Formats: sequence, C-alpha cells, structure tokens
Amino acid sequence: MRAELSAGGPALSRIVAGAWRWKLETKEIERLIYAALEAGISSFDHADIYGDYENEKKFGSVLKGNSALRGRLELITKCGIRLVSAAHPEHRIKHYDTSKEHIIRSVENSLLNLSTDRLDVLLLHRPDPLMHPEEIAGAFQLLKEHGKVLWFGVSNFSATQFEMLQAYVPFPLITNQVEISLFNSVKLFDGTVDTLMKHRVSPMAWSPLGGGKYFTASGQAETIEMKLEGFASKYNCTISQLLLAWLLRHPANIFPILGTTNPDRIKDGAGALRVELDRQDWFAMLKSVTGKDVA
Ligand SMILES: NC(=O)c1ccc[n+]([C@@H]2O[C@H](COP(=O)([O-])OP(=O)(O)OC[C@H]3O[C@@H](n4cnc5c(N)ncnc54)[C@H](OP(=O)(O)O)[C@@H]3O)[C@@H](O)[C@H]2O)c1
Repeated sequence: MRAELSAGGPALSRIVAGAWRWKLETKEIERLIYAALEAGISSFDHADIYGDYENEKKFGSVLKGNSALRGRLELITKCGIRLVSAAHPEHRIKHYDTSKEHIIRSVENSLLNLSTDRLDVLLLHRPDPLMHPEEIAGAFQLLKEHGKVLWFGVSNFSATQFEMLQAYVPFPLITNQVEISLFNSVKLFDGTVDTLMKHRVSPMAWSPLGGGKYFTASGQAETIEMKLEGFASKYNCTISQLLLAWLLRHPANIFPILGTTNPDRIKDGAGALRVELDRQDWFAMLKSVTGKDVA
C-alpha cells in the first residue's frame, strides 16, 4: 500500500490522513490513528500551526512511550507560517518566516510535540516572499545531517518557486503539496503538476474532496451531486471514493490527503484504491464541474 513519493524518495501510504481538522480529544485522535492504520493508511500530515499549535501535541501524546506505534507510521509536518495566537504573544501579525533560525526551532518543537526523534518529511507550508533559498538550504542540510528530518519538500509553491528552491538544495525535494480536486483542478493545467512530473516528484493533494463542501446541501454542490451519483453507481463506490479515484487516475501519482475526522470515513476512503476510472469517465466527471467539454 506504500509507494515512493519521488524517485528514490520516502515510501508513504498512497492515501494520507490529514490532521488539520483533528481539533479533538486525545482518545478520538487515537481512534483515528488506529482506524487509518487498519485501512492501510500509515502516513499522517501535520503542520506546527494546526489546531492553533495544539494538534501535533495531542497526536504526540498517543505516540508517547509507544515506539512500536511510531515505527508503523510516517510523519509529515510543515513550518513557515506564524499565526497570531495566545500561544505566541510575540506575533503581531500573521506572517511567513522561512529563516534558518525559525525552520530549525520549529522542527525542534514539532519533534517534542510529536514525541519523536525524527520527522519523515518536512514541508515549507507556503512560499514566503522574503525566503532566501541559500538560508533554507542551510537549514535543511543541518536538519538532515542531524537525522532530525529525513526528507524535505514544499507546499503551495508555483512551478518556478519549486525549481528555484531546488536549484539551491543539494538533494531532491520530494513533493509539492497543493490543492487539487475535481472541484479545483487548476494545478493540473498551470504547469505545477507537469513540473513535478519532470522531476519525478509526486504532488500531495490537499482538500481532495473539496474540503467537504460537496457534502453540504447548498448551491452548485447539489447539482454536482446529482451528476456524480451515476458514476458512483457505475463503479459501485461511494462519492468520496469516486473523488479520490479521480485523483489517483492521474499519471502524476498524486497522493491525496484525506481530511475527515470520522474513523469510518477514513476506512471508506482507503477503498478508493480499488476503483479504476475509465479515461472518458475521468473527462465526464471534469465536465460535470466545469460545465463544458475540453477544447
Ligand atoms: N498545505 C496546505 O496548505 C493545506 C491546506 C489545507 C489542508 N491541508 C492538508 O490536507 C488535509 C485535508 O484537507 P481537507 O480536510 O480540506 O480535506 P477533505 O478530505 O477534502 O475535506 C474534509 C472535510 O470533508 C468532510 N467530509 C468528508 N467526507 C464526508 C462525507 N461523506 N459526508 C460529509 N462530510 C464529509 C469532512 O467532515 P468529517 O470530518 O465530518 O468527515 C471534513 O470536514 C488537511 O487535514 C491537511 O493535512 C494542507
């Protein structure tokens, strides 16, 4: 069930569990972790800021003293955004910080929070207009040398930003985590995904179900729902599985990050791996959202 995220890079579960919405009690987080593992989802996506800087800590309290559990999963986290928060009274404004000092301090903190001695993957959360690629490369090298982070990537970077940073980092970046779904497929058409394919790097897709808005009974989502029901019954799968299968069908080897807080829906999501969409249905699903044929 694990696959390489990039040529020679880390092996992650093909579907990843995202902890952004896991503003939950520790017991519930524990239940989600085990539900994911049971379903073959072994990779977990975090960020220092999730849950107003609290989610990593709660996840880490499940791992604490359980090195066997740590050995069964892969941890991804991010840094580079600084929120206005009671946890950080020194932040006067929401801003980005990709200084060497901040990257290293943030990783040290994530290691403590997650009760682990290593992160499998560290991502820069957002491109920072003040980022200095040499400084970032220096931080990455130091963290790698000390075995604190095994692999490095970025998130929400454009194609040129990815290549710019890669020109300074002396080892391959292993992903660009961006928003991709049937509801928001811009990155499939603007060069972001093509550039990753050129480097044999897989994208990670955040909000693969459109952040759940498809499931609310309002506006356009309702119309799409009626159109997707037909595909779901043809492939004998749930709508979530259909939306994930749409991403999995893409040759870039997209790793969707499922954001549910519901253990049954995690298990359901893993079932998407058995759904193989026909090429014409892939385009028909796209048309159901865009309302028009491709040119
Ligand atoms: N790098 C970045 O900038 C960035 C940005 C955003 C997110 N992310 C990552 O991507 C992950 C996923 O993002 P996401 O949470 O927006 O993904 P998502 O999977 O598209 O959306 C999850 C939402 O959909 C709802 N949902 C799913 N299936 C449903 C169903 N059958 N019926 C009703 N509601 C349903 C979930 O509600 P329930 O919880 O009730 O199931 C949840 O609120 C995050 O956890 C985070 O790790 C990264």
